[in-house]
Amino acid sequence: GLDAYDTPTAAPGAETASSPGEPLTVLFGSQTGNAEGVAEQAAERARAWGLDVELKDMASFGKQDLKQATRLMAVVSTQGDGDPPDSALGFYELLAGRKAPRLSDDHRFAVFGLGDASYEYFCESGKVLDSRLEALGAQRLCARVDADVDYEETATQWIESTLAAFAELAGASAQSDAGVVSGSGNVAVTYSRSHPFQAEVLEAQPLNTEDSDKQTLHVELSLEESGLEYSPGDAVGVVPQNDPVYVDELLAALRLDGEAPFEEGRQLRDALLNDFEVTTLTRPFLNHWAEISDDAELRRLLDEESRDELREWLQGRHIIDVLEHFPVEGLEADTFIRALRKLPPRLYSIASSQAASPDEVHLTVAVVRYETHGRARGGVATTYLADRVQPGDSVPIYIDHNKHFKLPDDDAAPIVMIGPGTGVAPFRAFLQEREARGASGDNWLFFGDRRRRSDFLYQAEWLQWRKTGLLSRLDVAFSRDQQDKVYVQDRLREQAATLYDWLQAGAYVFVCGDAERMAPDVHQALLDVIREQGEYDDEAAAEYLRDLQQQKRYQRDVY
Ligand code: 2AM
Repeated sequence: GLDAYDTPTAAPGAETASSPGEPLTVLFGSQTGNAEGVAEQAAERARAWGLDVELKDMASFGKQDLKQATRLMAVVSTQGDGDPPDSALGFYELLAGRKAPRLSDDHRFAVFGLGDASYEYFCESGKVLDSRLEALGAQRLCARVDADVDYEETATQWIESTLAAFAELAGASAQSDAGVVSGSGNVAVTYSRSHPFQAEVLEAQPLNTEDSDKQTLHVELSLEESGLEYSPGDAVGVVPQNDPVYVDELLAALRLDGEAPFEEGRQLRDALLNDFEVTTLTRPFLNHWAEISDDAELRRLLDEESRDELREWLQGRHIIDVLEHFPVEGLEADTFIRALRKLPPRLYSIASSQAASPDEVHLTVAVVRYETHGRARGGVATTYLADRVQPGDSVPIYIDHNKHFKLPDDDAAPIVMIGPGTGVAPFRAFLQEREARGASGDNWLFFGDRRRRSDFLYQAEWLQWRKTGLLSRLDVAFSRDQQDKVYVQDRLREQAATLYDWLQAGAYVFVCGDAERMAPDVHQALLDVIREQGEYDDEAAAEYLRDLQQQKRYQRDVY
């Protein structure tokens, strides 16, 4: 345009038409902060590369921003069934809609996707972004990278190679004077995924009565001497150990010797117990196994045309089932290990506040046990916490901060908390915190579980808080106490008028728990309440809820 004549954007003396000074936009869409962390790392490294960089959140990235982002590095995570993060929904609507801006090949981009390879729609939102940007006319500078749960190393590599490409594009102005900074000096110890804190188990108590068909545990861990800090809404990452029974089954199926040395001073069994995921099936594992076994049936199952059949077959099956179904003779330990992914830590929403228990962190853990295809199965971390550690033992943990699930700074603001099952955990933290702060805002809890008598998690605490008045309202939905199912969303609908009044009065809404069915159903119930009470049409109700989301007054921690 005309501007280019008036105010040259190129650095003085630059001879190329492309302007080395064009800023690099590092854009992220993040649910729990992992994608944001990668983006922050990228921005920091970009500065070290001498690039002019802007860090942006998809939550507030509009059409004009996209048009101006001619140098774009995007990092986005995928939730459950292939969805982008809540905060990125608006941006994805823009990308997909008729109002999407037209881009040109002056626009260069690179996409990094975070996801979980055990899901069918692995890194779907990264894929969608990558292909949409291209379809809108932008030019891909580097091939997309999809990272599995163990993403850190892949992210660092992506950042360095992508920045090298952008720096080259920027030509003279950027310099690769930036060796990867290695930590040195007197840095305070910080605990992380790769360097967890050994937290002593103080207590592990059942939250259900014995005749319940569920097992939920209240686990208290010591943070003494750790210096670890968290705030309500954060999660704890537990680095579990596999069930030795599974590991022995695997070794037997493979006819491998667990005592055999695997690495320097380590036995194979020890590596399988601690370092690798030995249950969950992932697409890369299946591909690897098809190659190793050269099994025609497995190859066929992995064909694109067999997608539905594969999904069906995978139901309730684990790595051991694949080994038994498609056996391989004389396999080397190394070849097997190479097919596995690292054992990812499991995240639990924290159920305590440091304002109430400064040296402790509490978790609410639903123990996963079931039987499929004639075999007893269990969740790795939940059975680890329930069966394989005892008070006095230590559990490797770290804090996973979640900026997107936070009490309002305004202590007078009312909050509505919706958390059936273990989804109630962070709300125990919220209430402890608000109590300690003497926050004056009203608090309303919706809780649900199977049966009042056996599954009313933390019942005594809620009732006590009802008495003291900290909890202004408590609505419960016990799904199996009567003929027809009653869920938290039914209670939301029953309370529509009051709930809408709360929203109009500035209430914050928090939803925690099951992502697959509960969260969408609750979302729909909220839409219905808003539509009816506000006398809106569908579109306006959706707009109202989107607005709440934008204002961070509708936050979800769902899994
Ligand atoms: P159900 O198992 O009896 O169907 C915690 O797990 C509680 O959430 C249980 O009472 C469970 O009920 C309930 N639940 C199941 N599906 C749900 C849904 N779609 N929305 C809300 N709650 C649900």
